Amino acid sequence: MNKPNLAILGATGVVGREITKIVDELQIPYNEIKFLSSARSAGSEIEFQGRKYIVEECTPESFEGVNIVMASAGGAASKQFAPEAAKRGAVFIDNSSAFRMQEDVPLVIAGVNDNDLKQHKGIIANPNCSTSQLMLVLKPLHDRAGIKRLIVSTYQSVSGAGIAAINELRQDTEANLQGKPFENKVFKKPISFNVIPQIDVFCENGYTKEEMKVDLETKKILHLDPKTPISCTAVRVPVYVGHSEAVDIEFGGKCSPDEAREILRKTFGVKVIDNPENFEYPTTRDAAGVDPVFAGRIRKCNAFENGISLWCVADNLRIGAALNTVRIAQKIIEMELY
Ligand SMILES: NC(=O)c1ccc[n+]([C@@H]2O[C@H](COP(=O)([O-])OP(=O)(O)OC[C@H]3O[C@@H](n4cnc5c(N)ncnc54)[C@H](OP(=O)(O)O)[C@@H]3O)[C@@H](O)[C@H]2O)c1
Repeated sequence: MNKPNLAILGATGVVGREITKIVDELQIPYNEIKFLSSARSAGSEIEFQGRKYIVEECTPESFEGVNIVMASAGGAASKQFAPEAAKRGAVFIDNSSAFRMQEDVPLVIAGVNDNDLKQHKGIIANPNCSTSQLMLVLKPLHDRAGIKRLIVSTYQSVSGAGIAAINELRQDTEANLQGKPFENKVFKKPISFNVIPQIDVFCENGYTKEEMKVDLETKKILHLDPKTPISCTAVRVPVYVGHSEAVDIEFGGKCSPDEAREILRKTFGVKVIDNPENFEYPTTRDAAGVDPVFAGRIRKCNAFENGISLWCVADNLRIGAALNTVRIAQKIIEMELY
């Protein structure tokens, strides 16, 4: 098969830049590559593998001759461009939430549900960042003992909300330290020295959309019974990069903490750091800039008879978005699905 022509849509954004880096790191084979943005950044330069590329404004015609699009340009751009790309024969791997719950769109974490890729009709969705890191940890445990109930509390970094949010944390922190006033725009409350129990908008049931994404996407990816009880509380914390999650799992079968540790030690994409006596457990700083999803604090859950609690940390820009996008592109190439 010929090497694919690639396009990175949203190449000038937080996730797009990371995708560009990872295409290089994973040595994704390609024939041609192009970098697309809105009119705002069109004309700017991107250096990639020793060559300079001019960023182009994305139009439907940008996808002529393109085989694989890695997109992180927000929901509105995806809704506009994904059908245009698919119509021209490209596979559009989307980071936004626009298509995740659409029945004919596979929602995939590479290494977890690769077979779902075979069902694609031109669009493949990348899960939300808080769901993504969780899947690599939950899948092997679910295979062992069957998830019966799940409770997740997230501690999410500001980079999950894009460049503007990163800038707001820095500017708000500086203003706060200098005793100057600061008007927050990205977040509903000041983010410096604060913890905000709201990510995305509230739904009628009192959960936020972010929390419902964890619930619904987990069920779709792991093919769980839709009635499986899942509850998530999603919280924004003043950290630049890296999401942390406290997870309580009730199993139908049995899985001891030792078994869980053993299973996760052998799992693709997961690294266990779990020796609390020596203060060895993963923190966001361990995860920022690297690929693994880290798991630690694995212990019997006191709330469930058959259950474990654990702590899970990952780089939201990598496994939560860019790394999985590029891994999906890699699978599409390996499985000859373009
Ligand atoms: N950050 C995360 O951790 C994370 C995780 C998972 C998913 N996501 C999703 O990934 C997407 C991008 O997030 P981000 O954090 O990278 O945002 P960002 O830093 O604000 O970057 C947005 C990118 O999209 C481009 N863009 C915006 N509107 C466009 C349009 N109409 N046509 C073409 N290009 C357009 C921007 O181009 P300009 O430079 O021209 O403005 C920029 O390259 C969002 O859907 C987000 O929900 C983000």
